[in-house]
Amino acid sequence: QEQSTYEHGVVRILPDGWLYPGTTPRFLNRIQSFKFRPDDVLVMTFPKSGTTWMQEILWTMLFNPNLDNPQATQPLLVRSADLSVDMMFDTVTIDEIRPESMYEAFKKLCPGKDEEDGIAVQCLDAMPGQRVIKCHYPFDLMPPDLLDKTKVVYVARNPKDMVVSFYHFYKVIKVFDYKGSLDSFIKLFMDNGVIYSPYWPHIKQGWQKRNHPNLHFVFYEDLKADPQGEIQKINQFLATGLTEQQLKNVVQHTSFSSMKSRGDPLPDQGIYNKELHQSSGGFYRKGVTGDWKNHFSQELNHEMDKWIKDNIGDSGIPFKMD
Ligand code: A3P
Repeated sequence: QEQSTYEHGVVRILPDGWLYPGTTPRFLNRIQSFKFRPDDVLVMTFPKSGTTWMQEILWTMLFNPNLDNPQATQPLLVRSADLSVDMMFDTVTIDEIRPESMYEAFKKLCPGKDEEDGIAVQCLDAMPGQRVIKCHYPFDLMPPDLLDKTKVVYVARNPKDMVVSFYHFYKVIKVFDYKGSLDSFIKLFMDNGVIYSPYWPHIKQGWQKRNHPNLHFVFYEDLKADPQGEIQKINQFLATGLTEQQLKNVVQHTSFSSMKSRGDPLPDQGIYNKELHQSSGGFYRKGVTGDWKNHFSQELNHEMDKWIKDNIGDSGIPFKMD
Protein backbone atom coordinates (compact mmCIF):
# COMPACT_ATOMS: atom_id res chain seq x y z
CA GLN A 1 0.00 0.00 0.00
CA GLU A 2 1.12 3.54 -0.74
CA GLN A 3 1.49 5.55 2.46
CA SER A 4 1.56 9.12 3.56
CA THR A 5 3.90 10.33 6.30
CA TYR A 6 3.71 9.07 9.86
CA GLU A 7 2.50 11.55 12.45
CA HIS A 8 2.15 10.94 16.19
CA GLY A 9 2.33 7.17 15.75
CA VAL A 10 -0.46 7.00 13.18
CA VAL A 11 -0.35 6.54 9.47
CA ARG A 12 -2.76 7.52 6.72
CA ILE A 13 -2.93 4.87 4.05
CA LEU A 14 -3.73 6.20 0.62
CA PRO A 15 -5.81 6.57 -1.47
CA ASP A 16 -8.72 6.86 0.98
CA GLY A 17 -6.56 8.07 3.87
CA TRP A 18 -7.41 5.27 6.32
CA LEU A 19 -6.14 6.32 9.73
CA TYR A 20 -4.39 3.52 11.62
CA PRO A 21 -1.55 2.98 14.08
CA GLY A 22 1.88 3.32 12.47
CA THR A 23 2.52 -0.42 12.64
CA THR A 24 -0.41 -1.24 10.36
CA PRO A 25 1.28 -1.48 6.94
CA ARG A 26 3.47 -4.30 8.28
CA PHE A 27 0.42 -6.33 9.29
CA LEU A 28 -1.65 -5.43 6.27
CA ASN A 29 0.89 -7.21 4.12
CA ARG A 30 0.29 -10.38 6.12
CA ILE A 31 -3.44 -10.00 5.76
CA GLN A 32 -3.07 -9.87 2.01
CA SER A 33 -1.63 -13.40 2.17
CA PHE A 34 -3.78 -14.66 5.07
CA LYS A 35 -5.24 -18.08 4.29
CA PHE A 36 -8.98 -17.68 4.55
CA ARG A 37 -10.91 -20.94 4.53
CA PRO A 38 -14.09 -21.37 2.51
CA ASP A 39 -16.16 -21.96 5.65
CA ASP A 40 -14.72 -19.00 7.60
CA VAL A 41 -17.14 -16.24 8.48
CA LEU A 42 -15.62 -12.78 8.68
CA VAL A 43 -17.41 -10.06 10.64
CA MET A 44 -16.46 -6.76 9.04
CA THR A 45 -17.41 -3.46 10.66
CA PHE A 46 -16.49 0.09 11.34
CA PRO A 47 -15.87 0.06 15.13
CA LYS A 48 -18.75 0.40 17.60
CA SER A 49 -21.30 -0.83 15.11
CA GLY A 50 -22.21 -4.14 16.76
CA THR A 51 -19.12 -6.20 15.94
CA THR A 52 -19.03 -8.07 19.24
CA TRP A 53 -22.74 -8.78 19.12
CA MET A 54 -22.45 -10.30 15.63
CA GLN A 55 -19.36 -12.32 16.62
CA GLU A 56 -21.30 -13.86 19.50
CA ILE A 57 -24.35 -14.50 17.31
CA LEU A 58 -22.27 -16.28 14.67
CA TRP A 59 -20.20 -18.25 17.14
CA THR A 60 -23.32 -19.38 18.99
CA MET A 61 -25.08 -20.34 15.75
CA LEU A 62 -22.12 -22.39 14.57
CA PHE A 63 -20.81 -23.90 17.77
CA ASN A 64 -23.37 -23.55 20.53
CA PRO A 65 -26.93 -23.60 19.16
CA ASN A 66 -28.06 -25.89 21.98
CA LEU A 67 -26.27 -23.75 24.58
CA ASP A 68 -24.32 -26.73 25.89
CA ASN A 69 -20.80 -26.05 24.60
CA PRO A 70 -18.37 -25.58 27.53
CA GLN A 71 -16.07 -23.56 25.21
CA ALA A 72 -18.64 -20.78 25.32
CA THR A 73 -17.18 -19.54 28.60
CA GLN A 74 -13.88 -18.67 26.89
CA PRO A 75 -13.45 -14.93 26.25
CA LEU A 76 -15.09 -14.05 22.95
CA LEU A 77 -11.94 -12.52 21.51
CA VAL A 78 -10.18 -15.86 21.93
CA ARG A 79 -13.01 -17.84 20.33
CA SER A 80 -13.27 -15.30 17.54
CA ALA A 81 -9.97 -13.50 17.02
CA ASP A 82 -9.57 -10.00 15.64
CA LEU A 83 -7.52 -9.84 12.45
CA SER A 84 -7.09 -6.11 12.91
CA VAL A 85 -5.67 -6.35 16.44
CA ASP A 86 -2.10 -7.00 15.32
CA MET A 87 -1.67 -3.42 14.30
CA MET A 88 -2.04 -2.57 17.98
CA PHE A 89 1.46 -3.96 18.45
CA ASP A 90 3.22 -1.80 21.03
CA THR A 91 2.42 1.62 19.62
CA VAL A 92 -1.32 1.89 19.72
CA THR A 93 -1.07 5.53 20.47
CA ILE A 94 -2.13 8.79 19.10
CA ASP A 95 0.31 10.95 21.02
CA GLU A 96 2.59 8.79 23.08
CA ILE A 97 3.60 5.22 23.77
CA ARG A 98 1.82 3.59 26.68
CA PRO A 99 3.05 0.58 28.59
CA GLU A 100 -0.10 -1.51 28.38
CA SER A 101 -1.98 -1.82 25.13
CA MET A 102 -4.89 -3.77 23.79
CA TYR A 103 -2.28 -5.86 22.03
CA GLU A 104 -0.53 -6.64 25.31
CA ALA A 105 -3.82 -7.90 26.69
CA PHE A 106 -4.39 -10.05 23.66
CA LYS A 107 -0.88 -11.46 23.87
CA LYS A 108 -1.59 -12.76 27.38
CA LEU A 109 -4.61 -14.64 26.07
CA CYS A 110 -2.66 -16.25 23.22
CA PRO A 111 0.73 -17.03 24.78
CA GLY A 112 3.75 -18.41 22.98
CA LYS A 113 3.27 -16.65 19.67
CA ASP A 114 5.90 -14.53 17.95
CA GLU A 115 4.53 -11.03 17.99
CA GLU A 116 6.59 -9.89 15.04
CA ASP A 117 4.62 -12.30 12.90
CA GLY A 118 1.27 -11.06 14.09
CA ILE A 119 -0.36 -12.83 16.99
CA ALA A 120 -3.92 -12.75 15.68
CA VAL A 121 -2.83 -14.21 12.35
CA GLN A 122 -0.96 -17.03 14.10
CA CYS A 123 -3.80 -17.73 16.55
CA LEU A 124 -6.19 -17.97 13.64
CA ASP A 125 -3.84 -20.19 11.64
CA ALA A 126 -3.64 -22.54 14.61
CA MET A 127 -7.40 -22.73 15.06
CA PRO A 128 -8.75 -25.94 13.52
CA GLY A 129 -11.89 -26.03 11.35
CA GLN A 130 -14.42 -23.31 10.88
CA ARG A 131 -13.67 -19.87 12.31
CA VAL A 132 -15.55 -16.68 13.13
CA ILE A 133 -13.11 -13.86 12.49
CA LYS A 134 -13.45 -10.20 13.41
CA CYS A 135 -11.98 -7.41 11.33
CA HIS A 136 -12.28 -3.62 11.23
CA TYR A 137 -10.42 -3.26 7.95
CA PRO A 138 -12.50 -2.14 4.98
CA PHE A 139 -12.73 -4.11 1.76
CA ASP A 140 -10.10 -1.89 0.16
CA LEU A 141 -7.42 -3.10 2.56
CA MET A 142 -8.36 -6.77 2.30
CA PRO A 143 -7.33 -9.19 -0.45
CA PRO A 144 -9.27 -8.20 -3.58
CA ASP A 145 -10.66 -11.74 -3.99
CA LEU A 146 -11.84 -11.94 -0.36
CA LEU A 147 -15.44 -12.76 -1.28
CA ASP A 148 -14.30 -15.56 -3.58
CA LYS A 149 -12.51 -17.14 -0.64
CA THR A 150 -14.88 -16.74 2.26
CA LYS A 151 -18.17 -15.41 3.62
CA VAL A 152 -18.44 -11.93 5.10
CA VAL A 153 -21.10 -10.47 7.40
CA TYR A 154 -20.92 -6.68 7.27
CA VAL A 155 -22.61 -4.88 10.18
CA ALA A 156 -23.47 -1.18 9.93
CA ARG A 157 -24.91 1.14 12.56
CA ASN A 158 -26.32 4.61 12.10
CA PRO A 159 -23.42 7.05 12.46
CA LYS A 160 -25.02 9.11 15.25
CA ASP A 161 -25.29 6.20 17.68
CA MET A 162 -22.00 4.78 16.49
CA VAL A 163 -20.12 8.01 17.20
CA VAL A 164 -21.63 8.33 20.70
CA SER A 165 -20.52 4.78 21.42
CA PHE A 166 -17.07 5.50 19.97
CA TYR A 167 -16.76 8.66 22.08
CA HIS A 168 -17.33 6.68 25.28
CA PHE A 169 -14.82 4.10 24.11
CA TYR A 170 -12.21 6.77 23.36
CA LYS A 171 -12.66 8.14 26.86
CA VAL A 172 -12.27 4.86 28.72
CA ILE A 173 -9.50 3.15 26.73
CA LYS A 174 -6.19 4.19 28.27
CA VAL A 175 -4.35 4.43 24.98
CA PHE A 176 -6.85 6.96 23.68
CA ASP A 177 -7.62 8.70 26.99
CA TYR A 178 -9.80 11.24 25.23
CA LYS A 179 -10.46 14.31 27.36
CA GLY A 180 -12.45 16.43 24.94
CA SER A 181 -16.20 16.96 24.78
CA LEU A 182 -18.61 14.88 22.68
CA ASP A 183 -18.97 17.85 20.34
CA SER A 184 -15.26 18.05 19.70
CA PHE A 185 -15.03 14.28 19.25
CA ILE A 186 -17.80 14.32 16.68
CA LYS A 187 -16.09 17.14 14.81
CA LEU A 188 -12.88 15.12 14.84
CA PHE A 189 -14.82 12.10 13.56
CA MET A 190 -16.45 14.11 10.77
CA ASP A 191 -12.95 15.36 9.83
CA ASN A 192 -11.78 11.71 9.55
CA GLY A 193 -9.44 12.23 12.51
CA VAL A 194 -10.63 9.29 14.61
CA ILE A 195 -8.83 5.97 14.32
CA TYR A 196 -10.21 3.60 11.62
CA SER A 197 -11.55 6.61 9.70
CA PRO A 198 -12.81 7.49 7.17
CA TYR A 199 -16.28 6.15 7.82
CA TRP A 200 -17.91 6.66 4.41
CA PRO A 201 -15.71 4.61 2.09
CA HIS A 202 -15.75 1.80 4.68
CA ILE A 203 -19.50 1.53 4.74
CA LYS A 204 -20.03 2.30 1.05
CA GLN A 205 -17.65 -0.48 0.01
CA GLY A 206 -19.64 -2.94 2.13
CA TRP A 207 -23.01 -1.64 0.89
CA GLN A 208 -21.96 -1.80 -2.78
CA LYS A 209 -21.24 -5.51 -2.36
CA ARG A 210 -24.50 -6.30 -0.53
CA ASN A 211 -25.87 -8.45 -3.35
CA HIS A 212 -22.79 -10.63 -3.62
CA PRO A 213 -23.76 -14.20 -2.63
CA ASN A 214 -20.91 -14.35 -0.11
CA LEU A 215 -21.78 -11.05 1.59
CA HIS A 216 -24.55 -10.54 4.12
CA PHE A 217 -25.22 -6.91 5.07
CA VAL A 218 -26.95 -6.25 8.41
CA PHE A 219 -27.99 -3.07 10.17
CA TYR A 220 -27.57 -2.93 13.95
CA GLU A 221 -31.00 -1.28 14.18
CA ASP A 222 -32.71 -4.17 12.34
CA LEU A 223 -30.98 -6.70 14.55
CA LYS A 224 -32.17 -4.79 17.58
CA ALA A 225 -35.76 -4.49 16.32
CA ASP A 226 -36.14 -8.12 15.19
CA PRO A 227 -33.27 -10.35 16.33
CA GLN A 228 -35.07 -13.60 15.52
CA GLY A 229 -35.90 -12.45 11.97
CA GLU A 230 -32.37 -11.21 11.31
CA ILE A 231 -30.77 -14.33 12.77
CA GLN A 232 -33.06 -16.43 10.56
CA LYS A 233 -31.65 -14.57 7.52
CA ILE A 234 -28.13 -15.42 8.69
CA ASN A 235 -29.29 -19.03 9.12
CA GLN A 236 -30.10 -19.01 5.41
CA PHE A 237 -26.94 -17.15 4.40
CA LEU A 238 -24.71 -19.63 6.23
CA ALA A 239 -26.95 -22.63 5.49
CA THR A 240 -26.71 -23.53 9.18
CA GLY A 241 -30.14 -25.18 9.20
CA LEU A 242 -30.92 -24.24 12.82
CA THR A 243 -34.36 -25.16 14.15
CA GLU A 244 -36.82 -22.61 15.56
CA GLN A 245 -35.79 -23.63 19.05
CA GLN A 246 -32.10 -23.25 18.26
CA LEU A 247 -32.74 -19.81 16.76
CA LYS A 248 -34.55 -18.86 19.95
CA ASN A 249 -31.56 -20.10 21.96
CA VAL A 250 -29.25 -17.89 19.92
CA VAL A 251 -31.51 -14.85 20.38
CA GLN A 252 -31.70 -15.39 24.11
CA HIS A 253 -27.96 -16.05 24.55
CA THR A 254 -26.97 -12.97 22.54
CA SER A 255 -29.44 -10.47 23.98
CA PHE A 256 -27.85 -7.38 25.43
CA SER A 257 -28.65 -8.40 29.01
CA SER A 258 -27.28 -11.96 28.57
CA MET A 259 -24.07 -10.74 27.01
CA LYS A 260 -23.62 -8.03 29.61
CA SER A 261 -24.18 -10.52 32.43
CA ARG A 262 -21.34 -12.69 31.11
CA GLY A 263 -18.84 -9.81 31.24
CA ASP A 264 -16.55 -7.98 28.84
CA PRO A 265 -15.44 -9.68 25.58
CA LEU A 266 -11.85 -9.04 26.54
CA PRO A 267 -11.23 -9.48 30.27
CA ASP A 268 -9.79 -6.31 31.73
CA GLN A 269 -6.03 -6.48 31.45
CA GLY A 270 -5.47 -2.85 32.26
CA ILE A 271 -6.59 -1.48 28.93
CA TYR A 272 -9.37 0.58 30.47
CA ASN A 273 -9.47 3.50 32.80
CA LYS A 274 -11.34 1.27 35.21
CA GLU A 275 -13.44 3.74 37.17
CA LEU A 276 -14.54 5.68 34.15
CA HIS A 277 -15.25 2.45 32.28
CA GLN A 278 -17.44 1.12 35.06
CA SER A 279 -19.26 4.38 35.65
CA SER A 280 -20.11 4.73 31.97
CA GLY A 281 -21.61 1.22 31.82
CA GLY A 282 -18.66 -0.99 30.79
CA PHE A 283 -18.19 -2.45 27.31
CA TYR A 284 -21.89 -3.31 27.11
CA ARG A 285 -22.75 0.30 27.74
CA LYS A 286 -26.36 0.82 26.60
CA GLY A 287 -27.00 -1.31 23.55
CA VAL A 288 -29.89 0.76 22.21
CA THR A 289 -30.86 2.69 19.10
CA GLY A 290 -31.39 6.44 19.39
CA ASP A 291 -29.11 7.10 22.38
CA TRP A 292 -27.66 10.00 20.36
CA LYS A 293 -30.81 11.96 21.22
CA ASN A 294 -29.67 12.08 24.83
CA HIS A 295 -26.38 13.65 23.83
CA PHE A 296 -26.76 15.82 20.72
CA SER A 297 -27.51 19.54 20.84
CA GLN A 298 -29.78 20.84 18.09
CA GLU A 299 -26.85 22.56 16.46
CA LEU A 300 -24.69 19.44 16.50
CA ASN A 301 -27.54 17.38 15.12
CA HIS A 302 -27.98 19.87 12.32
CA GLU A 303 -24.27 19.74 11.53
CA MET A 304 -24.20 15.98 11.47
CA ASP A 305 -27.32 15.77 9.30
CA LYS A 306 -25.58 18.00 6.78
CA TRP A 307 -22.44 15.84 6.94
CA ILE A 308 -24.52 12.73 6.32
CA LYS A 309 -26.40 14.36 3.43
CA ASP A 310 -23.16 15.60 1.85
CA ASN A 311 -21.48 12.21 2.12
CA ILE A 312 -24.14 9.59 1.64
CA GLY A 313 -24.42 10.73 -1.99
CA ASP A 314 -26.49 8.47 -4.16
CA SER A 315 -25.45 5.33 -2.26
CA GLY A 316 -28.98 5.03 -0.84
CA ILE A 317 -27.79 3.47 2.43
CA PRO A 318 -31.04 3.30 4.44
CA PHE A 319 -29.90 4.25 7.94
CA LYS A 320 -32.44 4.14 10.74
CA MET A 321 -31.79 6.88 13.27
CA ASP A 322 -34.59 6.08 15.75
P1 A3P B 1 -23.19 1.25 23.01
O1 A3P B 1 -21.88 1.87 23.39
O2 A3P B 1 -24.09 2.21 22.26
O3 A3P B 1 -23.91 0.60 24.15
P2 A3P B 1 -18.58 -3.04 18.85
O4 A3P B 1 -18.75 -4.44 19.32
O5 A3P B 1 -18.59 -2.89 17.36
O6 A3P B 1 -17.44 -2.36 19.52
O7 A3P B 1 -19.91 -2.25 19.29
C1 A3P B 1 -20.18 -1.97 20.64
C2 A3P B 1 -21.61 -1.48 20.76
O8 A3P B 1 -22.50 -2.58 20.53
C3 A3P B 1 -21.90 -0.94 22.14
O9 A3P B 1 -22.88 0.09 21.95
C4 A3P B 1 -22.49 -2.18 22.81
O10 A3P B 1 -23.27 -1.92 23.94
C5 A3P B 1 -23.35 -2.72 21.66
N1 A3P B 1 -23.72 -4.13 21.86
C6 A3P B 1 -22.92 -5.16 22.18
N2 A3P B 1 -23.65 -6.29 22.34
C7 A3P B 1 -24.93 -5.97 22.12
C8 A3P B 1 -26.17 -6.70 22.16
N3 A3P B 1 -26.20 -7.98 22.47
N4 A3P B 1 -27.31 -6.03 21.87
C9 A3P B 1 -27.29 -4.71 21.56
N5 A3P B 1 -26.15 -3.97 21.52
C10 A3P B 1 -24.98 -4.58 21.80
